[in-house]
Amino acid sequence: MCGIVGYLGKKNTKEILLNGLKELEYRGYDSAGIAVLENGNFSNFKAVGKLVNLEEKTKNYSTDGFSAGIGHTRWATHGKPTELNAHPHVGQSSYVVHNGIIENYAKLKKELINDGIKFLSQTDTEVIVHQFEKNLNSASNTFEAFSKTISELDGAYAILLVTKSQPDTIFFAKHGSPMLVGTNNESEQYFASSDTPLIGHCNEVNYFEDGDYGYVSSNNITIFDKDKNKKEPIFSKLSQNKLSAQKDGFRFFMEKEIYEQSDVISDTLMGRLDDDEIIFNELDKKIFDDINEIKLCACGTSYHSAMSASYLFERYSKIRTSLEIASEFRYRNPIMSKDTLFVVISQSGETADTLETLKMAKQAGLKTLVICNVDNSSMVRLADYCILTRAGIEKGVASTKAFATQVTIFWMLSLYIAKLKNSLSVDEISKQISLLREIPTHVKVTDDMHERIKRLSKRYLHGHGFFFIGRDIFYPLALEGALKLKEISYLHAEGYPSGEMKHGPIALADPELFTIALLPQNLLYEKSKNNVEELSARDSTICAISSKEFDKADDFIQISECKDYMLEFFEMMIVVQLLSLEISARLGNDVDMPRNLAKSVTVE
Ligand code: M6R
Repeated sequence: MCGIVGYLGKKNTKEILLNGLKELEYRGYDSAGIAVLENGNFSNFKAVGKLVNLEEKTKNYSTDGFSAGIGHTRWATHGKPTELNAHPHVGQSSYVVHNGIIENYAKLKKELINDGIKFLSQTDTEVIVHQFEKNLNSASNTFEAFSKTISELDGAYAILLVTKSQPDTIFFAKHGSPMLVGTNNESEQYFASSDTPLIGHCNEVNYFEDGDYGYVSSNNITIFDKDKNKKEPIFSKLSQNKLSAQKDGFRFFMEKEIYEQSDVISDTLMGRLDDDEIIFNELDKKIFDDINEIKLCACGTSYHSAMSASYLFERYSKIRTSLEIASEFRYRNPIMSKDTLFVVISQSGETADTLETLKMAKQAGLKTLVICNVDNSSMVRLADYCILTRAGIEKGVASTKAFATQVTIFWMLSLYIAKLKNSLSVDEISKQISLLREIPTHVKVTDDMHERIKRLSKRYLHGHGFFFIGRDIFYPLALEGALKLKEISYLHAEGYPSGEMKHGPIALADPELFTIALLPQNLLYEKSKNNVEELSARDSTICAISSKEFDKADDFIQISECKDYMLEFFEMMIVVQLLSLEISARLGNDVDMPRNLAKSVTVE
């Protein structure tokens, strides 16, 4: 999703903006641009595609004094990914960048066109700069024109605007899309959509709240809140410990992140396991008082981990659990009762649909908890309680280690609640905790396993579709396997409960239908096997994933003998992740930044 950077200072503005945008690449984008105001003149560059194209265009450009610059990576919503549609958007003497959607742009655009304004792009964003310049004609000062403009916008936005009418200033507004400002001892000011571009430059940062707007000059940050009251920035320290997110010799970030899962899960578990209880210092045990239901709400991969949690919570914690897709939940006038703990799950903590459901739950007076990977993200700041997954920066658009750590947290949380509710014996909890300790070993990628999957992948590059099938908690894993494959291979794939195939999808069975069958030894093996046999009898091409060879399968990927179905779950997770990666790599796709997708979906 779009990324924003801004800089005010005397250093090399171009480099700072481009490097900042690189740090935001993981959010997904299809074009990029910068605009810099120096000595009263603007320089503006835009390019479609990857940032190298923008670097190429700016290679002969540099700044050598004080300047105000803004930059943007665009993920197309209104209008195709073209240079004209790329940000920053220009008026007579101002430039703007924007992340989000201006819902009333059509009305504003019509009025501006009637006033004689010529639009260059198809975007919703361009109205902001023209509306601002229109207001500037009648306002007594630049900020008055900017504030009026913001009050006229409906929708979600993070906005930066630079104008010749006040050249030493960057104007900003935030509502619904993330943005922060950082500063240092050198009177420099940095803006960005997330912390990463600011690490190494700023020692303290202020995260804007929804409704905040104002302006920043080299020695001043002026913020107003949604009620137009002036407020002081609330600075927090920014870690200087920049996590190196390089590929470390792997072909893709996704591959590196699959291999990292053993280490990050160790981090997820660290300090949280005692012999017979789970420790979540970040929770207050009282949150479970008077709670009769847990409602889990998320999107995409995070939704799949939530679905895994629903099996664990009902099985171990004996608590009624319901599951919601955030984009559906938002608009269906759901019943929200106060005996429900509302849990949102998000890698980024910024997904617009999920964030909105969290706001709804808070408004309805429910207790809220977020399971999240990004500290200080919007959801983390909003929820009553937060458990961080500690997966580290995930750069691959296709989520892997975020999912693994989310499921780990949920397994722990199910035992934490089981202890509170006495729904499992102390012995059983201790046994489960010792299984949890084994996950890092089971998710280590072996050369043999990776080599086998790499070789097998060449047989799965065509066909009219894939079905990933599993039962019980292996059904959400099947959904996740199918999502991974379609995201990065662009092949059609579906996740299905094994027992449900005979109620319709089996009609598709033929040698060109590839079935990826999850066959755990420790959970419903015979039942799952029967379902796969039904498909095999109808000549579907079967790839079985199991610890035990299965003679009805065309291909077989062996996992190790595991003590428990959850350890089989984690081993199979590695297999489906690697299978998708290798198929995508063979097809020559951009594994880390698949077409049409964004890492952080901050529009609804
Ligand atoms: O940051 P979130 O976990 O809230 O993101 C939710 C989905 O957009 C995300 O999981 C998406 O489905 C990924 N591309 C999956 O690989």
